[in-house]
Amino acid sequence: WMENRAEVDMNSFIVIGHRGASGYAPEHTIPSYELALKLGADYLEIDLQMTKDGKLVAMHDDLVDRTTDGEGKVSSYTLAELQKLDAGSWFNKEHKKFAESVYENLKVPSLEEIIDTFGETANYYIETKNPDKYPGVEKELLKILNDNGLIGSGAIKGRVMIQSFSEKSLRKIHASNPDIPLIQLIKYQGRAKVSNSQIKKWKEYASGIGPNYRMIDKNYIHTIRKAGLWIHPYTIDNQEDMKKLIGYGITGAFTDLADRLVQASKEV
Ligand code: G3P
Ligand code: CA
Repeated sequence: WMENRAEVDMNSFIVIGHRGASGYAPEHTIPSYELALKLGADYLEIDLQMTKDGKLVAMHDDLVDRTTDGEGKVSSYTLAELQKLDAGSWFNKEHKKFAESVYENLKVPSLEEIIDTFGETANYYIETKNPDKYPGVEKELLKILNDNGLIGSGAIKGRVMIQSFSEKSLRKIHASNPDIPLIQLIKYQGRAKVSNSQIKKWKEYASGIGPNYRMIDKNYIHTIRKAGLWIHPYTIDNQEDMKKLIGYGITGAFTDLADRLVQASKEV
């Protein structure tokens, strides 16, 4: 399964392994990403935080407390200090059913280590998280991707997608490199509605949107698709919801359980 991935068919349904295979393994660790690929995920989802010494690392929270044995902000640790923490044992305690001794003492991976490990055998769906707290995060991300041939001349389009709740962050990236597919994340508080002027704005810089899945309906999905935008809702772990939304025409989804979404996409 470690063969290089071919060009992504932008018209086919994509399975996005949310924090890897985070329903089965400690999120944002190398084993979690390995498992996601093995279970059939098309993309590895990576949330980015920045260390005190400016390194990009994969972690969802801006605090290390939930997913390591340390405490405090990621930004108060250098990469070397952060990598002394145990990023796996918490999972074994909380998910006894999926606990594995190899998860003990796993390290928080840097983005560069993830790319060194998977290279062209994976596709990457990367989120700039808290970009306002990390000035320069977009520039550093594009530099790493470019240095590794994942974007720029010769790179396969769609090898990397970048997502953010921050429109500002996505517009910055679009201004530096208009070829990277960008996804505008949205968190609806109530039932999702969308206007033509909103769609027009998204289309200035984004290829698609990522809404929270519970707030969207058939009508909303059809409107987004008619506008020619992709729609990748987050985070769907329930097979019934997967099938329902695939039936309505979503073009991909985030899931903690990649195998289940692969299965659902075959059954619809
Ligand atoms: O990036 C899509 C989804 O992951 C957004 O929510 O909080 O899990 O990053 P979160
Ligand atoms: Ca995310």
